[in-house]
Amino acid sequence: MEDKMGSECEGPEMSLVCLTDFQEHAREHLSKSTRDFIEGGADDSVTRDENIAAFKRIRLRPRYLRDVSEVDTRTTIQGEEISAPICIAPTGFHCLVWPDGEMSTARAAQAAGICYITSTFASCSLEDIVIAAPEGLRWFQLYVHPDLQLNKQLIQRVESLGFKALVITLDAPVCGNRRHDIRNQLRKDLTLTDLQSPKKGNSIPYFQMTPISTSLCWNDLSWFQSITRLPIILKGILTKEDAELAVKHKVQGIIVSNHGGRQLDEVLASIDALTEVVAAVKGKIEVYLDGGVRTGNDVLKALALGARCIFLGRPILWGLAYKGEHGVKEVLNILTNEFHTSMALTGCKKKRPITRLLRLPTGGSQTHSTVCDAVLPGPHPVWRLMPHSSHISNPSTPVLQALQSPVFPKCSIPFFVSLTIICCFLA
Ligand code: FNR
Repeated sequence: MEDKMGSECEGPEMSLVCLTDFQEHAREHLSKSTRDFIEGGADDSVTRDENIAAFKRIRLRPRYLRDVSEVDTRTTIQGEEISAPICIAPTGFHCLVWPDGEMSTARAAQAAGICYITSTFASCSLEDIVIAAPEGLRWFQLYVHPDLQLNKQLIQRVESLGFKALVITLDAPVCGNRRHDIRNQLRKDLTLTDLQSPKKGNSIPYFQMTPISTSLCWNDLSWFQSITRLPIILKGILTKEDAELAVKHKVQGIIVSNHGGRQLDEVLASIDALTEVVAAVKGKIEVYLDGGVRTGNDVLKALALGARCIFLGRPILWGLAYKGEHGVKEVLNILTNEFHTSMALTGCKKKRPITRLLRLPTGGSQTHSTVCDAVLPGPHPVWRLMPHSSHISNPSTPVLQALQSPVFPKCSIPFFVSLTIICCFLA
């Protein structure tokens, strides 16, 4: 038995067993400029790294003897069923890492039964993506172009192609400072084959596509609502103020995101921004999250804090770089299996959404917002820019996840951060 397991584990198919293995593989096999394009954050990449670190500061409180013989990872987003709350975020230029790019990504998403948000900056045409995976659940991500007619044509095209939601990215009125891309002069090589310029009939160079519309405002959303029946999801919200405005403007969903740390650096990690957004929308619209999700526990934490599902950015590109469609399938499969394990090991059952029930380490069951209100400033408070109005967080706002240590009750040293979560199901 040991021999069998040993030999199975040594086989090449078993060599990549977690998402970071795919990252390592991609690092070794992609060209420098492509690797930098995928991995890069803005400026000092503080937020890119914080997206990962913030997940690791959250601790789980498992419950046992709860019959986890039938764990079910399925859920719905905007009324459509997905096999697991693990979907694909929009990322551009998949042909940089695999010859048929987005077509492979779409096939993998269809096979996995999850949602794939196709980017405005897709390197395959939308029609080819749909032909590659006609049954797949697809949303379309829009970078709003200054030419309104171009937006209208594109939205009507995606609607007629069966895309089920319009995701408008808010956090890129200008492109963030991605130093590697500037050094590598990446953008000069890239063109958008899908976006035909109505005037010239030619592909638009990526360089000309950015910056995108810099003048977009909340009141412009009604124009989008007037030209499409698709649900509108706003991607890139990090504050309760913008979350409340999203509800007021009657959009159907929010993706809490900081663009993988590629836009404004030194904003909150997505998982740290999730709580205030979830609290602000008061259950009126669905809230999703992307940024830094790498393990099944991360997925569980995001759901426990109120996300309906999570979206993966870089890990999908690592999978694509590994083996195209099959690599993406492996990434999705590994993460879904990890999530399944996380559910079982924390006592989560099936079918119903995971609810959030949180408890401070010192005891006493509390709602999550109470926990956040109880957050104490650390001895060296971390200040983060809040990308809304002129808000700058101060130590009394719930932006730090530092909680009291049970050992040193008056200390809130990050090392002792142990936001604890009991995950369970209504039922
Ligand atoms: C992105 N992202 C992105 N977002 C978007 O709205 N439109 C886009 O075209 C792209 N393109 C893109 C390219 C690459 C290479 C990356 C890494 C990211 C952001 C993406 O949708 C998502 O917000 C983050 O990638 C999520 O973080 P993780 O999963 O990469 O940590």
